[in-house]
Amino acid sequence: MTTTAPTGTAEAALARWGFSEWIAQTRRTGEFIDTPELDGVNDAVISVDGRPVVNFSGIGILGWQHDPDVRRVFAAAAAEYGLVVGGSRLVQGLSRPHLELEKLVAEITGQEKALTFATGLLANLGFVHAMKARFSFADEPGVNNSDMVLVLDWDSHWSMWKAADGFKYGRNLFAFEHNDVAALRTLLAELGDRRVVVGFETVYSSDGSMAPVGEILDACEEFGAVSFVDDANGFMAYGNGGHRFAAEYEALRRATFRMVSFGKAVGLSGGAVVGPADAIDAFRFLSGTSIFTTNIQPPTAQAITHVLERMRRDPSVMERYLDRIDRLRERLIAVGCAINSTPTFVTSIAVGSNETAVRVRRDFLERGYLVPMFVYPAVRRNEAVIRLLVNNRLSDEQLDGFVDTLAELRTIHGF
Ligand SMILES: Cc1ncc(COP(=O)(O)O)c(C=O)c1O
Repeated sequence: MTTTAPTGTAEAALARWGFSEWIAQTRRTGEFIDTPELDGVNDAVISVDGRPVVNFSGIGILGWQHDPDVRRVFAAAAAEYGLVVGGSRLVQGLSRPHLELEKLVAEITGQEKALTFATGLLANLGFVHAMKARFSFADEPGVNNSDMVLVLDWDSHWSMWKAADGFKYGRNLFAFEHNDVAALRTLLAELGDRRVVVGFETVYSSDGSMAPVGEILDACEEFGAVSFVDDANGFMAYGNGGHRFAAEYEALRRATFRMVSFGKAVGLSGGAVVGPADAIDAFRFLSGTSIFTTNIQPPTAQAITHVLERMRRDPSVMERYLDRIDRLRERLIAVGCAINSTPTFVTSIAVGSNETAVRVRRDFLERGYLVPMFVYPAVRRNEAVIRLLVNNRLSDEQLDGFVDTLAELRTIHGF
């Protein structure tokens, strides 16, 4: 490691971390992406560094965040409840918008109680922390679950693996091959009567696959394991009366716990864990990410409730969106793209090596498209994908333009 900073300085101390060398190297290879400066509202077309580009990188798929009524609800709640929660829920209570939202999310998911968090990521971290907690207020027995075992699908979101940082793989942390129920069963049989939590997702962010929800929950029930389903992506996209993945979402009601994010179908931000009432009450203390940080902003909480109520009243908005995604998938296959086989709204287009990914992203941008390129660590090394959560506010012409550009870049870069 080289550093030019004089020894005995704070600069020299930090130089030992190697950030400068690493950043210089990733700038050279093109893997470093400078944060574009966005002007105006983040929408289907955004202005990047003063130039309009068609935005395929957003995650708020239905565009509720732009809906005039949603914005009105947000503004009215901001006036009534203020902009921020202003402190921890435990010491000062919670605004009505949060309490209403928690009641509604519990009702929608068919669970007893919900606990909201500032983001879905914090919900995941908090859940694992709470399930492994050892705590008592004084000398009373309290809870001691420090011997719990966490079993994850290998492709679980970064937040679940991060939550498991304090675990030791092979001792109290195990993983099964992605969506492989037989492998999970073998593992659960080996774990015998240890106290196990099985964590998996419904719709996986990276490959767009749908878990065999019912079969995994069957295995959990049979082996006496607690189940935790990260439904960040699928919440309100499926299971709201639509025909797609209806069996999986019916089975999901049997999960012990379910986590949801309000960032995808709802288009806002925040997350929640739902489950049995006493456990959820315990999580208020034990998760850490509820007690030691703030919650969703009150106007956002109110806007989420408004969106959820509208989605429940009229599931056809989501159905029409999913029909559009089916048509997009057909077009992508027609131009020869390798895409994920499960037809969820998450569309992953295989690109290959990191170098190709860098070039394809750059060429798309030159042609006026901002595309989300997933490279390691979001996916395995050299298995880069364009991971689309298409914004419903994109026009058919914009989707066609994207597919045509993709076809052109495939021939140039050979992916
Ligand atoms: C599977 C999964 N879990 C958790 C999260 C985190 O949710 P949030 O964006 O609400 O923090 C995401 C977000 O992308 C996700 O895809």
